[in-house]
Parts: sequence; structure tokens; C-alpha cells
Amino acid sequence: MLDFTFHSPTEFVFGKDTENRCGELVKKHGGSKALILYGGGSVIRSGLLERVKKSLDEAGVAHIEAGGIQPNPRASLAADLVNLAVSENIDFVIGCGGGSVLDTAKAVAIGAKHPDVPLWDFYSYKVPADTALPTGTVMTFPATGSEGSNSSVLNFEEQGLKRGLNTQVNRPVFAILNPELTYTLPPFQTACGIVDMMSHIMERYFTTTDSSKTTLTDRLAEGTLRSIIEAGRRWLDEPDDYDNRATLMWASTIAHNNSLGLGRTQDWSCHALEHELSYMYDVAHGAGLAVVTIAWMRYVAPRKPEKLAQFACRIMDVQPIFDDPLAVANEGIKRLAAFFKEIGMPLTFEELGCRREDIPTLAKTVKRLPSGKVGNYVPLDEEDIINIYELSCK
Ligand code: NZQ
Ligand code: ZN
Repeated sequence: MLDFTFHSPTEFVFGKDTENRCGELVKKHGGSKALILYGGGSVIRSGLLERVKKSLDEAGVAHIEAGGIQPNPRASLAADLVNLAVSENIDFVIGCGGGSVLDTAKAVAIGAKHPDVPLWDFYSYKVPADTALPTGTVMTFPATGSEGSNSSVLNFEEQGLKRGLNTQVNRPVFAILNPELTYTLPPFQTACGIVDMMSHIMERYFTTTDSSKTTLTDRLAEGTLRSIIEAGRRWLDEPDDYDNRATLMWASTIAHNNSLGLGRTQDWSCHALEHELSYMYDVAHGAGLAVVTIAWMRYVAPRKPEKLAQFACRIMDVQPIFDDPLAVANEGIKRLAAFFKEIGMPLTFEELGCRREDIPTLAKTVKRLPSGKVGNYVPLDEEDIINIYELSCK
């Protein structure tokens, strides 16, 4: 096992009606004037925004609000919100919604501490983001795990790039997780969330570190993946089952707070390839991941089948064939694709609304590691990236 430091400072408050504790939590974490951010209106329609405001009032926390944050959130709006936060002397930022809202809240929290630095300088790692206003979230969408993660991802229109910033100050001080708030999610979005949380685990599962030396991390990852698949299938039949929604909600947090990736290298090529799709075509992140993940697995399996075979046996219940790990791996990939299809996810570029002729352009901007390659499990060069996008078309 490789050495690691793991610090997850977020206070997770889980269960029914927990949004009513928002004011108390802001106050406890030092906030006196909060900026509440939200998206296109789902939190107005559900009444959540009113409940959050009421709880802030009851706790004596002043507040203003701003909405209109889009999926694949735009950095230009985040920059405007930084100006608002500074001019209004905000000392706490609340993201009320999904990952796009919370990622914007994280950007605003960093920007408000450094109003003279363009957000791009942080997201391109030119300037270290080491201080931020505290953020809290009332999460309505189990998917990104942003509620416990050190990441924030924005679309930078000027640069033409979608980029993430990983820094410890991105971890919210509290996260309110009420599974009942997720009942109103459209089925397509719920399915996107399932794929995203699975991908966060798989990006960590496909490692170059000898798995026999990190068995605990493997087993935790496998158990969580199996639970998500079970809950995903049950959700199709019983969308309003509270405990099932609760399983998905907590799985989303565990999948991306990094507890399932400790002590070993991680991959992250599927996320790098997907972010180009959600930038260029504005597709939902989870749907993009469904397409890219299956193509990536099909591409890397012949080069490195062993861990994919383990995935197939332990998660997709494929029978082991000891002298043919590639056959086992391929059967696992087939079953994973069938699961994605069962929950309503696309499997091809065409179904996603992407164009084959854009592949060379997409491949050029995929975020590289310092080595110039993408990913660790099988380091990918530009030709590999093109080949994977091509496989996504079939
Ligand atoms: O905007 P509103 O009206 O709220 O509607 C949203 C939006 O249209 C809707 N929604 C959310 N909760 C709802 C609901 N509709 C009804 N009922 C509810 N309870 O869902 C739509 C999508 O919301 P969005 O926030 O965009 O989805 P998600 O949470 O999947 O976030 C995706 C973004 O997060 C990034 C992705 O790249 C993408 O930009 N990621 C962030 C990560 C992180 N910070 O750690 C990691 C991920 O890998 C990912 O890259
Ligand atoms: Zn993701």
C-alpha cells in the first residue's frame, strides 16, 4: 500500500428534513451572511429554497441568493458571482442543488478570497488555491460526490475547456443529504448519477498498484459497486423507496471522497475523455461516462485484462476461466454495458449526440498528465484517445 494522507473534514448530516438544519450548521461553522446558490429552478419548484431560507432566518443568519447555474457550469457566471459575494460581504457560500451548483459555490468561495485573481489561474494550477470561504451544501442529486470531494469542475468558455480543480479547500464544511430531495429527479438524471458514482470508483479500481497489496481498498470498492448496481435495479421498480434512495445518496459520497482510492495509483482517463464531450456538446456528465467507459474498457482489456477480469468476476458475477482472463473481462464489459442500457443510458456517440468528425479536435484538448499521456492503468497517447472515441461510435 502506498503512503497517504486522508483528511475528510466535512460534517455529513443525513436523513429526512435535514435541510431544516442548514441555518444552525452555517452558524456553527462561523457564517453570518450566506450566499445561497441554485440552478435552473428545481429547488424553487420543490420548495427547498424556501425551507433553507427559513432555517437561515431562524438561526439569525443573513442571506442573499442567486440562481441560473446551468449543468456543466460556466466559469463566466462563477466570476460574476465572485463579484456579488465580495460586494455583499458574504462569509459563507451554500450550494443548493446538484454538482454544478456546488462546484460553482466552491469556485465562488475561492474567488471571493482572491478577487483579483481570475478563476482560470486556479483551475490551470498557475496560482495555488489554498484559502476559501467555507462552503456548505444541501445536495439534491446523488452523482458527483462533490459534497465530500476536493474537486470543482467548470466550463471555461474563454479557453474552450472544461477543467477541474482539486484542492483541500474545496471540501465543504457541511453537507446536508436528505434522500427524499432526490425523488423529483428525472429518471435520466438518476441514471446519470448512478454511472457517475460507479465511474468514480472504477477510476480508482483500475490501478497500477499491485492489488494484492491493497485488498481492503479493492473490497470496499467492490462492495460499494455491487450495492450501487443492486440499488440501481431496485430504483427502476421502486423509485420512491426511501432506503434505496438513501443507499444511492450515501454511495455517491463514498464513491468520491477518496476513501476508495487510498494507497494506490488511480486512473481517471474516462473522466478526462468525457469532460471534452460535456464541454463540446453540453451532454450530461454521467451519460458521457457511460459511453466512454465501455469503449475504454473494450480498448484496454486486450492490453491488460487481469484487473478487468477481477472486476467481471467480483462485480458482474462472471464465472472465472483461469487461462483466459480476456474472455472473462469481455463478458464483464458486456454485462456492465447491459446494466447501463437497462437504466436508460446511451452506449454510443450517436445516441449521445456527439459527432465522429469531431474526434481529432476532441482528442487534442483532453487533459494530459505531465508525461503527456492520459491515465495510469494503461497510459494513453493521442492515437489511443482517438481509437477509444472511435470505439464509442460502434
Ligand atoms: O438546475 P436545476 O433546476 O436544479 O436542475 C438540475 C439540472 O438540470 C437537475 N436536478 C438536480 N437535482 C434535482 C434536479 N431536478 C429535479 N429534482 C432534483 N432533486 O439535474 C440537472 C443536472 O444537474 P447537475 O448539477 O448538472 O448534475 P450533477 O450533479 O451530475 O453535476 C454534474 C457536474 O459536476 C461535474 C460534472 O463534470 C458536471 O459538470 N463533476 C463534479 C465533480 C466534483 N465536483 O467532485 C466530480 C465529477 O466527476 C464531475 O466531473
Ligand atoms: Zn464524475
